[in-house]
Amino acid sequence: MNIVVCKNYDEMSLRAAKIVAAQIKEKPNCVLGLATGSTPEGMYADLVKMYKNGEVSFKEVTSVNLDEYYPIAPTNDQSYRYFMNQHLFDHVDIDKANTNVPDGTAGDPVAEGKRYEELISALGGIDLQVLGIGRNGHIGFNEPDSKLILDTHVTDLTESTISANARFFASANQVPRQALTMGIGSIFKAKKIILMVSGVEKKAAVSALFERNVDTNFPATMLNLHPDVTLVCTADVLD
Ligand code: GLP
Repeated sequence: MNIVVCKNYDEMSLRAAKIVAAQIKEKPNCVLGLATGSTPEGMYADLVKMYKNGEVSFKEVTSVNLDEYYPIAPTNDQSYRYFMNQHLFDHVDIDKANTNVPDGTAGDPVAEGKRYEELISALGGIDLQVLGIGRNGHIGFNEPDSKLILDTHVTDLTESTISANARFFASANQVPRQALTMGIGSIFKAKKIILMVSGVEKKAAVSALFERNVDTNFPATMLNLHPDVTLVCTADVLD
């Protein structure tokens, strides 16, 4: 695993944005795997700035997002589709038809998982996947469990994730209890991965990642098996 240590959140955001922009320059029609959460917000703001300065264009880019709550409408301001529009898609020249987020309104979430998995395969996999990490070690919404699912699927959220994500909702009981998420296998179809981590509350998550074990009860440890992962983190995560 490559490690890029940054002095603060702003530097982490800029370093990650530069990696994404370099990917787009190398392959303008690349497939980007994108993540939500508070961690990548600054990176998206930097990418928007780079676009406005003429440093990068998303014209030919296709995006696939990691996950979405289920059920949730795209117009709900807590949906990940809404987040992506607000933080990136509405501010750059990406063709919205080429942006993909699992459909939180799908009548049949199992069929939606299958459709999404087929889409990722049809795109030829992901060139660069951006990831964050949950406090309990989840990636996407692959929650700790005795087994992990490879393909995109519908999953129950753990109490830990519901309470961590409640900060974005009016109350914890408004957090959807399920989500659609790429599986570990879908994430591993990415040729390159950048894992963004910021803040002392993620320290335990990162040290578990460094133990060099693979533990389904700590899904991020699976990243130890991927050949091209770059951890872009703030220094306090490693103290
Ligand atoms: C959320 C998302 C993840 C994200 C993680 C961390 O539940 N499903 O994709 O990486 O939790 O979020 P944050 O960056 O806000 O800490």
